[in-house]
Amino acid sequence: MLPKAELHLHLEGAASPDLVRRLAARHGMALPADLFDARGEFAWTNFLHFLKVYDAASTVIRTDGDYRDVTYEYLKACAAEGAIYVELMSSPDHAAAAGLSYQGHLDGIVQGIEDARAETGIESRIIVTCVRHLGAERGVEVAKLAAKHPHPLVTGFGMGGDEAGFPPLLFAQAFRIAHEEAGLACNVHAGETAGPESVWAALRLPVTRIGHGVRSIEDPALLRELADRGTVLEVCPTSNIATKVYPDYRAHPLRKLMEAGVKVTLNSDDPPYFATTIGHEYDVAERHFGLDEAALRQMTRTALQAAFVDEPTRARLIARLDS
Ligand code: HPA
Ligand code: ZN
Repeated sequence: MLPKAELHLHLEGAASPDLVRRLAARHGMALPADLFDARGEFAWTNFLHFLKVYDAASTVIRTDGDYRDVTYEYLKACAAEGAIYVELMSSPDHAAAAGLSYQGHLDGIVQGIEDARAETGIESRIIVTCVRHLGAERGVEVAKLAAKHPHPLVTGFGMGGDEAGFPPLLFAQAFRIAHEEAGLACNVHAGETAGPESVWAALRLPVTRIGHGVRSIEDPALLRELADRGTVLEVCPTSNIATKVYPDYRAHPLRKLMEAGVKVTLNSDDPPYFATTIGHEYDVAERHFGLDEAALRQMTRTALQAAFVDEPTRARLIARLDS
């Protein structure tokens, strides 16, 4: 099986409908009737509605044990598909909305990573994220929490949420704290639901990677800038179709980005919401984008080269890819 690596995965968005139902039962919580469709999958209509459904489902992740289970189950499933490395975006704001402290959510995720690694050998790191539509002040608070609670598995800081309504530079201070005071590597969602101007602004933050970034394809000068800088795009093809950034795989710019010399990786984003997995994204890249085995292997290599890990761990992972 081809070794795979994933850099862009929202942990709260990795909980399957089945796990969400189990956690709700664990806490005696009633879930909104319209959370699921007739087949029992998450039901949502457009990007902003997706974010709302995601918030509602995340409220069942209430304890450190719950975060452990979400993390462990996701990483085990990835390892079964050949993943050797996964970066998890955690959201202290979602934990807080469910009544859990920063330390509680971190303890649970760390336990899940350690349990999955002991069983399968999968390696993982945590990117603490803020939610842009909660505003710049909250972003600063999350960055300060990350600075106050350093942990060897927390290696990144990032930001998700409503990109179109909340442009990147509102969050310059949060990213400065995360990068300079907490010493974290950074990524940010940009060029997903907003256009090239959002990616240009994101490049003024201390980031080495862009979440999605696919709409950079609309600006040749931006493509040159990304290629020159070596900025890595965390591309999530099936997510982009599901949220209607593009109508179908044929319209998706993955190949054109590669041809422009931009570094790209494959990612699942929020797998159960978009009916995908990391293994499925590699399949899609082969079947719909014509990538051969060497190109898929290069995707994993690019991800490992851009991973937010210490150099000995990076060397170990690359050796595993090459073995
Ligand atoms: N995009 C932006 N914000 C998010 C996402 C996403 O796919 N998932 C969770 N928060
Ligand atoms: Zn995302």
